[in-house]
Amino acid sequence: MSESPRRDKVRPKIVAVDGPAGSGKSSVCAKVCERIGWTYVNTGFLYRAIGYLILRDKIQGDDAIVGLVEDFSKKLIWNPKTQDVWYDGENLASHLYTDEIGQKASEVAKNPKLLTALLPLQRTLALQPETGSMVDGRDIGTVVFPDADLKIFLTASIEERARRRLMQLRQVTDRAEIDEQSKEFLDLRTSIAKRDQQDSKRGSAPLKQAEDAVMLDTSHMNQENVITAMINLLKEKGLVTAIK
Ligand code: DC
Repeated sequence: MSESPRRDKVRPKIVAVDGPAGSGKSSVCAKVCERIGWTYVNTGFLYRAIGYLILRDKIQGDDAIVGLVEDFSKKLIWNPKTQDVWYDGENLASHLYTDEIGQKASEVAKNPKLLTALLPLQRTLALQPETGSMVDGRDIGTVVFPDADLKIFLTASIEERARRRLMQLRQVTDRAEIDEQSKEFLDLRTSIAKRDQQDSKRGSAPLKQAEDAVMLDTSHMNQENVITAMINLLKEKGLVTAIK
């Protein structure tokens, strides 16, 4: 990061949002943050960027991977509003949100050295805003911010997650347009199941609900209801008052 961390002692409020792939964390967190004026820190983009660079530059071996994470942490210029990810004079954003890079990110996240090397950057990004950060990922409430002001575990059935992903990919809003017998749907469901397995079975910082997290199963909720439920949880904790 080119900017140095804030030096005063007041820590912004932190809400940790963990959950499996496709549970809707990113769209919901972005909308909640827009309404409450907080910063959304989508930590998945860091894993995706590192996965992409490892793949593109054929980087091998723990030392080289840790070296890459350290260099990336120093040079990253990130815009939370546009989600631009500048590294070494290039905006990586357009390469990151494919299923292939999602799988690669999940695979590289099995490496405990990489997880440790990425911790300071995740904390720095989340601690920079003045008011509050909503931080989403797999291990935010358990490892990155075990002292978060509120922890939410967002989940949904695998069918529903595959359906939402496909609707997003096809840019459709009508659920009836999704054929659950189609190869595309079945392939997506298999890919999400593989990622669930990989993220929750790894030895270090696996995906799991923190003991003090509130679980929200969104299988039968629409996006607006999830947003309202999350804002209500923040209000109950006294974390927000003014809402747009
Ligand atoms: O949230 P996402 O789908 O963009 O994340 C991609 C992968 O990155 C995810 O499958 C596992 C890894 N990841 C992680 O291990 N810890 C995080 N805090 C965020 C992502």
